[in-house]
Amino acid sequence: GKVRAPTHIISTISDDRGEEPCYGGVPMSSIVEQGYGVGDVISLLWFKRSLPRYCTQFIEICIMLCADHGPCVSGAHNTIVTARAGKDLVSSLVSGLLTIGPRFGGAIDDAARYFKDAYDRGLSPYEFVESMKKKGIRVPGIGHRIKRGDNRDKRVELLQKFARTHFPAVKYMEYAVQVETYTLSKSNNLVLNVDGAIGSLFLDLLAGSGMFTKQEIDEIIEIGYLNGLFVLARSIGLIGHTFDQKRLKQPLYRHPWEDVLYTK
Ligand code: ACO
Ligand code: LMR
Repeated sequence: GKVRAPTHIISTISDDRGEEPCYGGVPMSSIVEQGYGVGDVISLLWFKRSLPRYCTQFIEICIMLCADHGPCVSGAHNTIVTARAGKDLVSSLVSGLLTIGPRFGGAIDDAARYFKDAYDRGLSPYEFVESMKKKGIRVPGIGHRIKRGDNRDKRVELLQKFARTHFPAVKYMEYAVQVETYTLSKSNNLVLNVDGAIGSLFLDLLAGSGMFTKQEIDEIIEIGYLNGLFVLARSIGLIGHTFDQKRLKQPLYRHPWEDVLYTK
């Protein structure tokens, strides 16, 4: 009989061997003919299934809302400096992407992990926040450099509005809002930020869509899929900043001495 040689790679998300490439078993022609969007492609390649329209729309809204947040944030700043050092598109892009992490844009997975754990264990917002404080951990998804209780993040409001209208249930989001109410009572800068909003709402998406088993949800959260949304989204803006600097023929960046405190 036939002997199957052992393979060095196992892959389950796409296949380019046939007449046309398939994403998650769906041929490219169906993707185009059925008017699929980038949310559907993410569903097929990341989650290996077609998700309902409101889910793919939510994914697309996350990507649009996180695509850019001006030139002053960590990622754009790095990209701008790198582009002005004469580096190429990929170098400028990854220089910006490398700033995405626990403080900037990359708190979505941890927000989902901590909110889920706290909600599932029935902790009140007070118990949750104070237990984090005791452990010396800042609550992921809470806090912002420029947003305040009286100057909320519009992106968060838009995501919440969409979810309240289209999701079957928003229990994790409501929990995150209660956590925010408590943290805001401690300090005006401790708003629910866009990472926290996406983290909590994605828990609702995973739990409410009926498309994932409990075990699959745990795996998605444990592996950490959700920061991928910010990485993907912000790449759009970082590429834009690279082109912008090159179009504007900006010279090598040097930080002004006056803005540095030289001290011993
Ligand atoms: N949980 C608890 N307390 C907090 C938090 C938080 N998430 N954020 C700030 N504080 C409190 C702390 O007391 C902190 O003091 P410390 O330095 O002794 O810990 C104090 O507020 C500092 O406040 P700020 O100076 O306003 O905060 P900073 O500008 O240093 O940080 C940041 C802003 C990085 C966003 C912070 O709030 C944080 O770490 N949040 C958690 C991570 C997160 O969600 N990041 C994503 C932000 S949104 C985005 O990047 C797209
Ligand atoms: C962002 O989306 O980049 C921000 O929320 C971070 C910031 O400081 O504005």
